[in-house]
Amino acid sequence: MKSLIVYCSSHGTTEKAVRFLSESLKGEILAVDLKRENVKFDLRDYDTVIIGGSIHVGNIQRKIKQFISHNLNTLLEKEVGLFLCCMRDGETAIEQFNNAFPQELRKNSAAMGLFGGEFLLSEMNFFEKQIVKKVSGATIDQSNLDYEAIKEFASKLNNIKVRV
Ligand SMILES: Cc1cc2nc3c(=O)[nH]c(=O)nc-3n(C[C@H](O)[C@H](O)[C@H](O)COP(=O)(O)O)c2cc1C
Repeated sequence: MKSLIVYCSSHGTTEKAVRFLSESLKGEILAVDLKRENVKFDLRDYDTVIIGGSIHVGNIQRKIKQFISHNLNTLLEKEVGLFLCCMRDGETAIEQFNNAFPQELRKNSAAMGLFGGEFLLSEMNFFEKQIVKKVSGATIDQSNLDYEAIKEFASKLNNIKVRV
């Protein structure tokens, strides 16, 4: 199995989740940070495409939305995994997930995951710290990264039978 992981990470948590996910997946993996890296790849070379990002003020990174809209038809022909890092849980996390990824893609995906998140205050600028303090009260670092959810997500993708 050849897997491509495309992701965006603002303060490093999604990147950490991607590292753990890469170690949990079988086969050859290329992970590309859409914001930082200018790596050329051809979606047609991959059996599985995993797309993930994080939520800031209700929204996933714009580059993830653009990647999906530019490649939707190809993605619909692939085994797809979708995941999100965020600090809200329950219904709000599900709403954020549904808002981040189009229904067509969600319906066609082989794995979907909510991986939790982290508040890393040392990585945030002044305005981000103010927002986080206002909406969550957090003034020190917090970590809710859900390694079990990542393992479960990886296991779903590892168990896919190759399409013939
Ligand atoms: C400015 C800011 C706004 C955020 N807004 C939300 C939000 O609306 N909903 C949520 O669930 N988490 C929110 N978060 C939490 C992030 O999703 C969480 O910190 C995540 O782990 C970030 O991952 P990253 O470092 O890969 O970008 C926010 C974090 C920051 C810094």
